[in-house]
Amino acid sequence: MNIVEIIEKKRDKKELTEKEIRFFISGVCGGSIPDYQISAFLMAVCINGMSDSEIAVLTDAMAKSGDSVDLSYIEGIKVDKHSSGGVGDKTTLVVAPMAAACGLPVAKMSGRGLGFSGGTIDKLESIPGFRTSLSEEEFIRFIKRDKIALMGQTKNVAPADKKLYALRDVTGTVPSIPLIAASIMSKKLACGSDSIVLDVKCGSGAFMKSLDDAVLLAQKMVTIGERNGRRVYGIVTNMDQPLGNAVGNALEVKEAVETLKGKGPKDFTELCYIIGSYMLVAGEKAKDTDEARKMLEASVSDGSALEKFRRFVENQGGDPSITENYGLLPSAAVKKVLISPCEGVISYIDGEKTGAAAVSAKAGRLSKTDKIDFGSGFVLLAKIGDMVEKGQPLAEIYAPDEKSAEEAEKRLSEAYSFSEAAEVKPMLLAYTDKEGIYFDKNKRC
Ligand code: URA
Repeated sequence: MNIVEIIEKKRDKKELTEKEIRFFISGVCGGSIPDYQISAFLMAVCINGMSDSEIAVLTDAMAKSGDSVDLSYIEGIKVDKHSSGGVGDKTTLVVAPMAAACGLPVAKMSGRGLGFSGGTIDKLESIPGFRTSLSEEEFIRFIKRDKIALMGQTKNVAPADKKLYALRDVTGTVPSIPLIAASIMSKKLACGSDSIVLDVKCGSGAFMKSLDDAVLLAQKMVTIGERNGRRVYGIVTNMDQPLGNAVGNALEVKEAVETLKGKGPKDFTELCYIIGSYMLVAGEKAKDTDEARKMLEASVSDGSALEKFRRFVENQGGDPSITENYGLLPSAAVKKVLISPCEGVISYIDGEKTGAAAVSAKAGRLSKTDKIDFGSGFVLLAKIGDMVEKGQPLAEIYAPDEKSAEEAEKRLSEAYSFSEAAEVKPMLLAYTDKEGIYFDKNKRC
């Protein structure tokens, strides 16, 4: 087999065979295909796409390129959740303890943040003492006993994706639905869960800017899952502004705890109930999302979800009393307030600009080695659809020093747009599973 012929075939819009795709991935991992040929292949896929069968084989080959995680020692259906990333996305911190409180085992492996999207591991490590490097024995013990544990990725999961993603990043081939679908799903398949709830973000703060693209990506991932023997639920949710009010690690932990107490921001609380509901249905703990939602709401009102979070924090070395005393969480040295430059209705808060401002405040990192300040970030005081006066505070900015605070303030101010009126979109924009797509809960398309 010859890599040049494979590239030419894709260039000429022909379908690749299983053997050709596996040959490509094995050459990527083994080093026999140089970067320029890998890049040419990626560009051909980016332009000409792939069939569902090609994507399923590519994903399987990438998933099998490294270690896989065995969760078979945990009884019951193991459900994973994945979000395609977004500013202020702290859903795992709320959904995992809620689902565990409803009896679903949550064995979660998470990553660190890079660029504008924060990582769950960083958020949790802002809790004093919290350990995300667990031994496999501890991980299993906690899940068996308390139904919840979270650890950083230790195994060499989907190395083919690492190599391909690094090249996509520098060759303009990131925005390709087949490549994104294979990238996300290869890691999910290798992580061993039976069922996966995928939250595909759509809007300014997301990879997918249009609803059509977001739905297509969700559908492709559902199909890949089904072809690889996993049940996948794809939901498309609105990301036209940061999620909730808090952006930044310790600030997001505090907002997550408030949400577990039933006092979280409306948009974020709604998203947690949507994702949690599909997780309970996927794990066969509820017959439908209405029943699941009632169970999740009960776990918040009776305090069992918060209690599960406290237990989770304690198991992993953290201080559970942070839930009662937020003063134990790291805080930033400098606070500034961003003031509205005009009177009007907030019509837009650009996700990428907000994320960049968070990096300026030292709440996020640009390169893997950057150090983050756990107490830094923002608290948004007004969101899309809110009427504000000139001079009214729009956001609190927290940073380790004056210079970072000023830079963050300047960048954050550029994220806002104002007008006379603004449309507030619903959180759930579409849902897809193996049966079809819904844009409305009762209407399948
Ligand atoms: N997230 C991933 O893991 N891979 C992509 O290609 C895009 C988003």
